[in-house]
Amino acid sequence: MQNVKDAYSLISEDLVAMEKMVSQLVSEVDPFVDGVVRYGLQLGGKRLRPVLLFLAARGTGEVTESHIRAAAAIELIHTATLIHDDILDGASIRRRLATINFKWDSHVAVLAGDILLTKAMELLADNDDIQGFRRITIACRQTCEGELLQNGTIGKFTISEEEYTKIISRKTAPLLACSTELGAYYSGVDSAAVELFKCFGQQLGIAFQMIDDVLDLAGKTDITGKTLRTDIMNRKPTLPLILYLRKASQSNIDEVMLRLSGNRENISETTADWIADRICNSDIVNEIQQLAITIINLAIESIANYSSGNIQAIAGLITVAKFITSRKI
Ligand code: IPE
Ligand code: IPE
Ligand code: MG
Ligand code: MG
Repeated sequence: MQNVKDAYSLISEDLVAMEKMVSQLVSEVDPFVDGVVRYGLQLGGKRLRPVLLFLAARGTGEVTESHIRAAAAIELIHTATLIHDDILDGASIRRRLATINFKWDSHVAVLAGDILLTKAMELLADNDDIQGFRRITIACRQTCEGELLQNGTIGKFTISEEEYTKIISRKTAPLLACSTELGAYYSGVDSAAVELFKCFGQQLGIAFQMIDDVLDLAGKTDITGKTLRTDIMNRKPTLPLILYLRKASQSNIDEVMLRLSGNRENISETTADWIADRICNSDIVNEIQQLAITIINLAIESIANYSSGNIQAIAGLITVAKFITSRKI
């Protein structure tokens, strides 16, 4: 299977079932509250986590109601973390729409994110399975820990690659890991197989965030559908900047550091674009892409020989894994 669309089409009916479940979650509380929640619930995006969950489910067994609820819950949690992330990053566009913090304000966005998060918990409770519930809440907590860790690195441009990897191993990878993990878990396979799928998703998550950090510099808003350059604007040291500040010539480093000095208010969009161009014109982007490909290839190797399940679905997982490093969205 070469095409990511083919991988998505293997599980299209599962995605439809999940979206139907999400659309039924709007309560009748009050026109204002319902409007904000409905806005937040418009899924959009790539639905990568549900896709991974359903492919892992079909790769290890049959898709059940528990899988559909878990996929909906993970996508809601992911959406809630994006709503909160956009407050932290001061972003104004997400999934091609105005962010909640931009359309309303950050107070509304904090609470809208919390509502989506708790709706996810309500959905999961219907699975009547405390082990699955625990697995998701751990991933959710790790995501928050990762965001908090990253918040503590603002302006610290000399952090090591290990510190960076520690952040993204919490901020992004656990929700992808939890997706492949729960796909296998709700199929009822043994714990070694569940662990295998979890580790696969964790590696995908690490590569995914590395590419996202490249896209923040090299991407286009009309393709990604979100505000870019926020890492530079917020003085967050992600891998491209960390490596650039280690490898560029001293005069280039000095020029970039001069523009990064001060606080957020000192970094205009033009300055952020200037820094992004500098990094994109170096070998760093290619180096990170190669690193991400190496991580993805190791992950693929780990599941390629999983022979107890549906070979087509496993091939779909491998196609999605490869898409992660070539994506522009
Ligand atoms: C964006 O995730 C946030 C990161 C973890 C980098 P996605 O790129 O999966 O966002 P959507 O769901 O497609 O909008
Ligand atoms: C990912 O970080 C956010 C979470 C994992 C919650 P980013 O800040 O890089 O995500 P984008 O680029 O805004 O989507
Ligand atoms: Mg962000
Ligand atoms: Mg980003």
